[in-house]
Amino acid sequence: MENRAQWGTRAGFILAAVGSAIGLGNIWRFPAVAYENGGGAFFIPYLFALLTAGIPLLVMEFTLGHKYRGSAPLSFFRMNKKTEWLGWWAVLVSFVISTYYAVIIAWAMSYSWFSFNLSWGEETQGFLFEDYLKLSVDPGQTGSLVPGVFFPLLAVWLITLGVLFKGVKKGIEVANKIFIPTLIVLFLIIVIRAITLPGAVEGLQAFFQPDFSAITDSSVWVAAYGQIFFSLSIAFAIMITYSSYLPKKSDITNNAFITGFGNSSFELLAGIGVFGALGFMAQQQGLGVNEVVESGVGLAFIVFPQIINEFPALNGLFGFLFFASLVLAGLSSLISISETYVAGLKEKFGLTRNQAVGFGGGAAALISILFATQGGLFFLDAADYFINQFGVAFVGLVEVIVIAWFVRKLGDFQNHANGISDIRLGVWWKVCLGLITPLVLGWMMFDLFKTNLL
Ligand code: PHE
Ligand code: NA
Repeated sequence: MENRAQWGTRAGFILAAVGSAIGLGNIWRFPAVAYENGGGAFFIPYLFALLTAGIPLLVMEFTLGHKYRGSAPLSFFRMNKKTEWLGWWAVLVSFVISTYYAVIIAWAMSYSWFSFNLSWGEETQGFLFEDYLKLSVDPGQTGSLVPGVFFPLLAVWLITLGVLFKGVKKGIEVANKIFIPTLIVLFLIIVIRAITLPGAVEGLQAFFQPDFSAITDSSVWVAAYGQIFFSLSIAFAIMITYSSYLPKKSDITNNAFITGFGNSSFELLAGIGVFGALGFMAQQQGLGVNEVVESGVGLAFIVFPQIINEFPALNGLFGFLFFASLVLAGLSSLISISETYVAGLKEKFGLTRNQAVGFGGGAAALISILFATQGGLFFLDAADYFINQFGVAFVGLVEVIVIAWFVRKLGDFQNHANGISDIRLGVWWKVCLGLITPLVLGWMMFDLFKTNLL
């Protein structure tokens, strides 16, 4: 076997896996998804999805990468020649995501900077769309570069590609060892501040208030599975690539549990922080919490600036902490998605790491400039919609069906993992992957096609 790059320490691998998992999805997606799908009652389907699909699939992907020691396409190829395309499909989805994920990190960089002077003013929505993104300034200018987005985007790619140039141990591992502990400290500070603000209690009540009727609603279960998949970076080729750099003796099952619970803990923390802050804002504006709930770009770049404006003290500092958290969470995820195509290209075409980073990363960076133009937001929305609808769950579904039913490798994988792990995989693991997950994901896809095409 070739002399393959390796993580320096077990903690290095876990931090990198957790760093990939913890991303924008934890901070701006989870809180609203939970709130809209039963509040406190959402934790039942959510935990079920984590235990029956999230962690079992993580074990499967870790085993795939560890056993065959390759990027996603190469690992699939070594498992069975006919499945290489599945690896490339996941890599392609990651490539597309990386082009716009980078842009959102660039916005967060700008906003960390804007925080100090609260440059967004009172009209935070107008500021985002007109002053910052220049959406409606002059429609004739659509397609021209927006320097305020372009320069931070350049910085995002310089950091990401710089880390990837340095390799697995000196680059990815070192970056995550710095980013993730820093992120946790910064984020804890904001969460503690948020939940001690006036009105925070009402926000938390709204968040945890259980609506048990949600449990009988199939769309709530679909939302729980969707969140777990996206949040754990499953079916993006990432976890396969990262685990291929593990040393021979590695407790992969245990690592999967740590990654899964680590990501969910951060998600819960983010839910508490975001709803504490939303409760505060609702009180300041004399509104109900339900009237201020937002997610995604609207939450981070329109509502949060308003919340920061209302902070009783140190507004600039808390604004900075919030946006810097987005930057750190985003960068560690972007590094992980970009490594999938760097590793894939490197092994497929026998390139050096530098060449693979140059070609793959360079191409992603160039394409991402499209989203830094006037009107770029529309492309970004379109790409994100497409990926969420047809990327993630679809790749995940095909992946489990192929491994469980076509090449029938679950037994081999189980033996492989049990040979090196303290936690033993029993029949439950095969039932989760062979039966429960395909059924639920199949139902999800059916639901999606129904709502999209009929
Ligand atoms: N898991 C990340 C999150 O929760 C998102 C992500 C998806 C990261 C795909 C990398 C690749 O935000
Ligand atoms: Na996540």
